[in-house]
Amino acid sequence: METGRPVENSELDYLEKEKWVLPGSAGAHNWQAMSVDVDAGLVYIPTQESPLIFSIADEWKQFGSYRRDPGRWNIGLEMGRLAQLFIDNVAEQPTPGGALKAFDPLTGETKWSVRNPYYWNGGVLASAGGLVFQGDAAGQLSAYDKENGELLWQFNTYTSILAPPVTFEFNNRQYLSVLTGGGGADLFGGETDTASTKYGNFGRLLTFALGGKEELPPASVVDKIIPEQTRIAVESAVLGEGEGLYNNYCAMCHGLLARSGGSIPDLRLLPAERHEIFDRIVLEGILAANGMAAFNDVLKKAQVEKIQHYVKARAWEDRQVVLGIKESAQLTWLSDKQSR
Ligand code: HEC
Repeated sequence: METGRPVENSELDYLEKEKWVLPGSAGAHNWQAMSVDVDAGLVYIPTQESPLIFSIADEWKQFGSYRRDPGRWNIGLEMGRLAQLFIDNVAEQPTPGGALKAFDPLTGETKWSVRNPYYWNGGVLASAGGLVFQGDAAGQLSAYDKENGELLWQFNTYTSILAPPVTFEFNNRQYLSVLTGGGGADLFGGETDTASTKYGNFGRLLTFALGGKEELPPASVVDKIIPEQTRIAVESAVLGEGEGLYNNYCAMCHGLLARSGGSIPDLRLLPAERHEIFDRIVLEGILAANGMAAFNDVLKKAQVEKIQHYVKARAWEDRQVVLGIKESAQLTWLSDKQSR
């Protein structure tokens, strides 16, 4: 308090050796909307517990400097070797999760807390009627008693929810609406068991009223069968380079280990005809209008080819496991010295 400087925790110094940090770079509660209840003096916060393995960028270790690279996620951490770092330390990984917390900002106390099965959940709405609403990554829209967090109502939307619900009155009737669909900054973590990964990512506006009877059509589990891969034999070092580039430029959206978090295409599932135009998609940006920007300002054709080899290799490995040919998939091709 005297100096205003943060107190450093030397146990979490990741300069020499990588460390799990919780919360990771996605923070603990600063994305989805929280809700304020002035009468109760509480805020209802969608908190997230999302650990990340922190290792200072190899470039810093080697040269004592860190160059900001436009067109990718620059957080000073080693991204190229992330899959390797993750695998090496998976046994100590803190369990990810989330919780809706009724928090008193004046005392710092948590009045009640409800666990969510995943960490990346929806924003919160507290109503004057004493209810707290939240949608979650498992696809449930829930209403809780604001006094104690008791679950009072739940509706399965079969897709992950990110947006906060809103309430409004029309012709003397109160309604509750929510936009469904996952996304945001959760893509990086890769494949999980969330509703959007399981059933698909549906952008829907759902509106509820007391006595409402409509139901959603039953959802079916998405077909995620990895197509047969035509793999050209390439050296492990090339795959390692592709992996480093993928982790630096693509994993942020398409997911670590080329396993997608559900809202952006899983590149392991790319059909052959899409693979044929891979470089046009990535370099020219022919899908830019849909959010897949051109990377020709930061990547060269030869680099994109290496990324494509890596994606095919990951797809091939995971497919072998599904077919029962291999017991476990190869996840990384990086040698110790390689970084990007
Ligand atoms: C900022 C997020 C983002 C990043 C980073 C990103 N992509 Fe994409 N990518 C998308 C989106 C969104 C789509 C879906 C576009 C569409 O629906 O047509 C997509 C689609 C694709 C497709 C076509 C998928 C299909 O099913 O047809 C390929 C191939 C692809 N990306 C490769 C890459 C590669 C390689 C990189 C890294 C160099 C990369 N992307 C980085 C967002 C991203």
